[in-house]
Amino acid sequence: MNRVAVIGAGSMGRQIAVHCAIKGLEVSLYDVSDAVLANASDFSVEYLESRVKKNKLSVEQQIETAKRLKFVESLENCVDGASVVIEAIIEKFEPKAALFERLGRLCPAPTILASNSSNIVGSRLAKVTAGPERVINLHFFNPVLAMDLVEVVVHPEVSPEVESAALEFCKVIDRTSVLVRKEIPGFVVNRIFRALTREAMSLLEGGYASAEDIDLAVTRGLGHPMGPFYLMDVAGVDVTYLARLDEFQETGNEAAKPNEILERLYREGRWGKKVGRGFYDYPDSGDSVGNK
Ligand SMILES: NC(=O)c1ccc[n+]([C@@H]2O[C@H](COP(=O)([O-])OP(=O)(O)OC[C@H]3O[C@@H](n4cnc5c(N)ncnc54)[C@H](O)[C@@H]3O)[C@@H](O)[C@H]2O)c1
Repeated sequence: MNRVAVIGAGSMGRQIAVHCAIKGLEVSLYDVSDAVLANASDFSVEYLESRVKKNKLSVEQQIETAKRLKFVESLENCVDGASVVIEAIIEKFEPKAALFERLGRLCPAPTILASNSSNIVGSRLAKVTAGPERVINLHFFNPVLAMDLVEVVVHPEVSPEVESAALEFCKVIDRTSVLVRKEIPGFVVNRIFRALTREAMSLLEGGYASAEDIDLAVTRGLGHPMGPFYLMDVAGVDVTYLARLDEFQETGNEAAKPNEILERLYREGRWGKKVGRGFYDYPDSGDSVGNK
């Protein structure tokens, strides 16, 4: 398990790729957009340099990590020889399903085909994939380079070998895993996050308090490191909106229905820190892990 392919070089994919390369794996990263791929390459250079400046990596580790990280311009070349493929493309079912259908044909078993989706369960993607027993969710958290957790989500078709290999993979990349043994959209963390953000947005919509004060209340009163509005801006308002919409359309669960303010921000392109505006404005949107 020493070769990983990451599909999608946006906020998450580029960080997953860099993290796996730092941990000693050979990594190929691919995106449909050449511009995003070039931007991800610049990001990796800047990030590794910043780690050297902070004495977190030696110059030799920086050079070796960069050698292990390849930016590849075709899906076929990206997945060639990979034992784990991690999909981190847009949070919409149709493009993900089309990709998994291709991956099922391109990647021989027992290659693990993992989705980093925030919400879409592996069994939906397994239905269109040759070798459904190897389709799982490996859900990383943003910023991947700092957040220790990975949710490993399995469905009844997943083989015990794939489940253990996925848990082992998390150990290899030095991340804490939790096993979600029965599928549910949003898994564990995002369901809890959804309950929190839904209530926070209702309070804001009702005029009970400002976003700033709600964030302050949650950080100081509940001890969370970030308030819900700031966290949605960091994660991407678009990502939060699309994940909710998908769950609502799939299950009809009213609790998942995007709040009005979330829908408005999505439509206005206020997608959070990566574009310089979301619930808050970021005049200097040079977020260290952003991609826009
Ligand atoms: N942003 C977060 O905080 C976060 C956290 C956990 C999981 N996720 C999940 O990770 C995935 C990616 O999220 P993101 O924030 O990195 O999104 P993003 O918009 O930053 O990046 C998505 C990338 O996928 C590329 N892409 C789209 N279709 C493609 C295809 N068919 N093949 C190759 N590349 C393709 C796009 O060009 C884009 O660069 C989503 O499923 C999201 O739900 C996001």
